[in-house]
Amino acid sequence: MAPINVYDYEQLAQARLTPRTWAYYSGGAGDEITLRANRDAFDRLRLLPRLLRDVSACDTRARVLGTDVRMPILVAPTAAHGLAHAEGECATARAAGAVGTIMAVSTESTRTLEDVAAAATGPLWFQLYVYRDRDIAADLVRRAERAGYRAIVLTVDLPRWWGIERERRLAPDVPEAPRAWDVGNLPPGTDMTAAALTWDDIAWLRGLTALPIVVKGVLTPADAREAAARGATAIVVSNHGGRSLDTVPASIEALAAVARAVAETSGDACEVYLDGGVRRGTDVLKAVALGARAVLVGRPVLWGLAVDGADGARHVLDLLRDELELAMVLAGRASIADIDPAVLARP
Ligand SMILES: Cc1cc2nc3c(=O)[nH]c(=O)nc-3n(C[C@H](O)[C@H](O)[C@H](O)COP(=O)(O)O)c2cc1C
Repeated sequence: MAPINVYDYEQLAQARLTPRTWAYYSGGAGDEITLRANRDAFDRLRLLPRLLRDVSACDTRARVLGTDVRMPILVAPTAAHGLAHAEGECATARAAGAVGTIMAVSTESTRTLEDVAAAATGPLWFQLYVYRDRDIAADLVRRAERAGYRAIVLTVDLPRWWGIERERRLAPDVPEAPRAWDVGNLPPGTDMTAAALTWDDIAWLRGLTALPIVVKGVLTPADAREAAARGATAIVVSNHGGRSLDTVPASIEALAAVARAVAETSGDACEVYLDGGVRRGTDVLKAVALGARAVLVGRPVLWGLAVDGADGARHVLDLLRDELELAMVLAGRASIADIDPAVLARP
């Protein structure tokens, strides 16, 4: 089968990955209610096109944190790309560069952040998990700065790991992938999450780096206001792809209220992105209409990587960009700035 959409890549990837890696990539926390909701909520939204608006030239370009991108579709930080492909995150970084977008590189990468930077052909952000030992985070931030990363994405929605139950039922079928951060200095497999993290720690991080800080995992207007007030340059409305607290709303359901709260508190000073369940160009259009400057995609990039390395990940991102352009043309919106809330039917 020659894949023609993201779901084709999902099927092909499942056939290639070991059962346990598949379970780890595809699964969610608990009963996976939020995981399913991320998709269902997109599917429930209906688009309303405007007609006869000259869509002969359609422009999907956008700007995030001052960087021009070919499309408002970025690569979400996901762990352990080495389970999908031998080149791991280095291949993903080349794919993101080839399509003209930004990749957020996970703390839990299987390649060092310096290796990924050396392989990259486009801009990178560094996703930070703060572990109990703060010195590790401080060191990672300094290394990311030195290697040319352009932002720190602080993930705040996982003070403890629930785990993926369908993964836990399966015995390990490949050796645990090494993690960049624990090479040489940390006991593997220990829970080192800094559950003690508070909003005051944004100031601690701000003291470590002049890079923009993107707070990832926000679902409520109250936390969005807090993040903006504490100096976050952007927030990601996210439920961690349904992998953190189960039964929270789909991220697309949480978006509009969060975007409104941020606009009221800080205008354009704090950008708003969304991730969770983006699988079609129409999903990107819907997210932008509800207030996202850009979306991030997690699993689809892993599927592309598993199927055909950098080329597969690039193709997945190209498919999403092409679909976004098609959706915009058919909806009568010729540029990202033209995408307004009226493109969505009121429920
Ligand atoms: C296998 C996997 C690993 C992930 N690892 C991380 C991570 O290391 N850091 C992080 O901030 N988010 C991580 N996430 C969450 C993603 O950044 C993102 O929020 C989510 O995948 C978006 O949903 P989607 O997969 O439906 O696109 C991970 C998600 C998956 C599926």
